[in-house]
Amino acid sequence: MPVITNIQDLHRIYRRRVPRMFYDYTESGSWTEQTFRANSSDFNDILLRQRVAIDMAGGSTASQMIGQDVAMPVALAPVGLTGMQCADGEIKAARAAAKFGVPYTLSTMSICSIEDVAENTDRPFWLQVYTLKDDDFMQRLFDRAKAAKCSAAVITVDLQMLGQRHKDIKNGLSAPPKLTARSIANMATKAQWGLGMLGTKRRFFGNIVGHVKDVKDPRDLAAWTAEAFDISLDWDRIRQFRRMWDGPLIIKGIIDPRDAVEALNVGADAIIVSNHGGRQLDGALSSIRALPAIMDAVGDRIEVHLDSGIRSGQDVLKAVAMGATGTYIGRAYIYGLGAMGEAGVTRALEVIHKELDVSMALCGRRDIRGVDRDILMIPKDFSDRWQ
Ligand code: GLV
Repeated sequence: MPVITNIQDLHRIYRRRVPRMFYDYTESGSWTEQTFRANSSDFNDILLRQRVAIDMAGGSTASQMIGQDVAMPVALAPVGLTGMQCADGEIKAARAAAKFGVPYTLSTMSICSIEDVAENTDRPFWLQVYTLKDDDFMQRLFDRAKAAKCSAAVITVDLQMLGQRHKDIKNGLSAPPKLTARSIANMATKAQWGLGMLGTKRRFFGNIVGHVKDVKDPRDLAAWTAEAFDISLDWDRIRQFRRMWDGPLIIKGIIDPRDAVEALNVGADAIIVSNHGGRQLDGALSSIRALPAIMDAVGDRIEVHLDSGIRSGQDVLKAVAMGATGTYIGRAYIYGLGAMGEAGVTRALEVIHKELDVSMALCGRRDIRGVDRDILMIPKDFSDRWQ
């Protein structure tokens, strides 16, 4: 096994081990992928201010997200089809997160169901829900989350329609994968993945199959979203979901300060600045560039988290210094999961933790909770280059 020192190392192994269809699903942004790329590259416009001769002993990355203790301000983001990257992937990722002491968010579009994850882990996780038309399904999702002792619900508000990802269409993405000459030939080269899949029964969308009515083919992500998702979603409808769930609520998918104010008014406990990893509106502002205006609009009234583009502890540090209470990684842990299962997710968390801890120290800070904008050098037009 090669020495893994950064997330890119995990990516290289992941690419070799996982069937092309699921690798492409992870590595896709919508249309030209401009926003997908900008989410990561815009972090490079922010510099960290080096300080020296400051006592670097000790140090703590421990913090809180929505009042819950976290070993570092990094949660695992909801990622659809995680159990196709690696057999029982959601259970493995949830276990790694629990052992590390960070939140795990299970996607509605997961392969392992809410109940599967609850039965196989011993720490509460968060459930992400999409905004579907079917009220009974929505209420049941929240009830199932409550029964599973989920400690927060995350409502995704930026996916009424699916942004087009060219590779997924060309690959005929589905769970389980459709068997074509091309997909069979590709899967045949992924022995470890195939053995895992043979050894599990969890190959369908576990939260959906058997739970939704009027959906012809719940194996097909694009068809399913087109049929079941609520195209007429508005903030009143989101208020109804607030009433269906009485636990902590996080609203995910905010890029514009006006939407941040709406989310605040709905009674959310936190918002996630996110453009869905560049998978929805291609041409949208990157999350890190959107953060300052959102902090100005609501930062003193609601917890603001940041998702999309984070691949290192330095990225986490920059987001926290700009005011985010917490951050999310998606692709960064999926690489680890596809590369090495649960151990790979743990490795991704260790890598990011170490980078965060050392970078913080080299900025002269030893407690993540005291980190502020003073450690950053930000170009004057960073957040208002585009009006
Ligand atoms: C689902 O949320 C996706 O981005 O594929």
